[in-house]
This record gives sequence, structure tokens and C-alpha cells, in this order.
Amino acid sequence: MTVRDLQDEILKIKRDTDTCILAHSYMTEEICEIADFVGDSYALSVKAKSTPEKNVIMCGVRFMAETVKMLSPQKRVYLANASAGCPMAEQFSKEEIEAVKKMYPAYAVVAYINTTAELKTVADVCVTSSSAVKICKAIPQKNILFIPDINLGSYVKAQVPEKNFKLLSGGCPTHAKIEEEDVKAAKSAHPNALFLVHPECRPEVVKYADYVGSTSGITDYAKLSAAKEFIIGTENSIVQHLQFTCPDKKFYPLSKDLVCHNMKIITLNDVYACLKGEGGEEIVMNEELRLAAVKSIDKMIEYGG
Ligand code: 13P
Ligand code: SF4
Repeated sequence: MTVRDLQDEILKIKRDTDTCILAHSYMTEEICEIADFVGDSYALSVKAKSTPEKNVIMCGVRFMAETVKMLSPQKRVYLANASAGCPMAEQFSKEEIEAVKKMYPAYAVVAYINTTAELKTVADVCVTSSSAVKICKAIPQKNILFIPDINLGSYVKAQVPEKNFKLLSGGCPTHAKIEEEDVKAAKSAHPNALFLVHPECRPEVVKYADYVGSTSGITDYAKLSAAKEFIIGTENSIVQHLQFTCPDKKFYPLSKDLVCHNMKIITLNDVYACLKGEGGEEIVMNEELRLAAVKSIDKMIEYGG
């Protein structure tokens, strides 16, 4: 069987089983090709509410599938590969955040969407990398406890100087391992390239950016820009997607280490097995947890527009 045969088979079963396939933009090209929708975390959350199909397969990490289930409890939601988790989402327990909240009772908890459902229950509002600045500006609270990503938190803090921020020390192990030296090396290898970076990278990396944004933000910027060369400071799948989308431009990875092994564990074969009921994991969520957690996602969509 070839990749194309498998894709055709997936498209057929998908139609027959009334299933929608959502894919985060860190998926491989072959998965993006068979998905009904590809996007960043924010776009996937919004899309999850409006898909008419009875079943949803999330090709992404666990918190993304949980978000779909929270927003569409009547649907059967599956994570394409049960071992695809986001390490950042599990860095802090609900109890740890509750203890910090007690120290700062006047602070609103703003949680990056890369958190477990449990953690979302103690958040006032969720944000994604594309909506964090807008939402932190829009919420009425002046004091913000931003969890868990210190790098995204530092970026937002710099963009919203009118508010007071407390940050925790969490972060993405993939983006946070990139150093200033990696940027200098990429820039010296490609002196004419613009540098587009995800705010999960460290401030000393982000400071060199020509553009800072989410995976969709980076993609849109590169598509619309008149420039011809770009260094991509996020997961390396975006480099290949952009090369397909803009064949007349050149895209370079910031580092060969920018690989999210959790996203990359998901294969086209996993999607096929999940569709056939022979793989993946159905997301089951107790209604009490769902109702407590979804409030922060609803608030995100309300403020995020
Ligand atoms: P986006 O919101 O940009 O899709 O980011 C999700 C993510 O996990 C980045 O590491
Ligand atoms: Fe989580 Fe980082 Fe992977 Fe995104 S790239 S899913 S934040 S580990």
C-alpha cells in the first residue's frame, strides 16, 4: 500500500463514518492533506464548535482533543495516538496553582491553552499564542497570573505594559531549547532571510524576530510577505508546509532540534487505525470536570473574537 492508497482509504472511511479530521499545523504533510481542517490551537478550538460531523479525530496533542470534547460533548472525540501529550500541559498540578493563587488572591489566572482539563478549572480565562496579547489587554483585571509558559508570558507582558504580571517557570521543552547562538548561526547562514518566531521561544531568541506569532500567524506572514527567504523559529513541519504553499520562496529551519516528538508520534497509519476503531483513544470526560473547565475556553472565545 502506498501513502496515496492509504489517504484514499481514509477519505472513504471518513465519509462513511461521518467523521471530521482536525489537524494541528505540526502534523506531517500527508496528514494535513487528508484533514478537513488544519490550523493553530485557537483556530482548532473555534472550528471544534462548528463541525457538523458526529465524530472528530484530533491529530494533535491530548489537550487539543480535550478542548474539542469540552466544546462538543455530544460528539465522540478521539485522539489519533494516545501517547501524544504536551509535556508543558502537565508541568503544574491543580494543587500547585491553587497554592500560588492563595499567595496572589487579587490576580486573575490566565492559562495558556496548553494545560490539562483539570488545570483549566482554576483558570479565569484561557489564551493561545495567537490570542494571548489581545485577551490580556481585553480582560477587566489589571493583575494577571500567567500559567504555565514563562516565555509566552514574558512576550505578552512586554506587549501589555499597562498590566501587572506574575509568571511561572513552565515552558515548551522543544522551543525552550533554542539558544541565541542558534539564531546567530541561522542568520549568518541566511543573511537575507526574515526571522519568524513562535513566542514559546526564549526572550533572547524572540528579540531577533522580524515577526512573532502563532503557527498560523507565521504561515500567514510568510505567505503575504514580499520577502523571498525566511528562517522559521517553530516546529520544523511548518518549514515543509510553507515550502509546498509558497514554492517560489525559501524556508530554513532555525534549528534541526525544533521537533516536537509528541506531535511527530502521530502517523497516517494511526489516523487509519483510529477511523477503523482499532487505535487512538476516545476522550471521555466527566461532566462536572467538563463544565468547570470549559468556562475558561468559552471566555477565551468570547474575548478572542
Ligand atoms: P499554536 O497555538 O501556535 O498552534 O501553538 C501550539 C503549540 O503547541 C506550539 O508549540
Ligand atoms: Fe507542547 Fe511544545 Fe509540542 Fe507544542 S511544541 S505541543 S508546546 S511540547
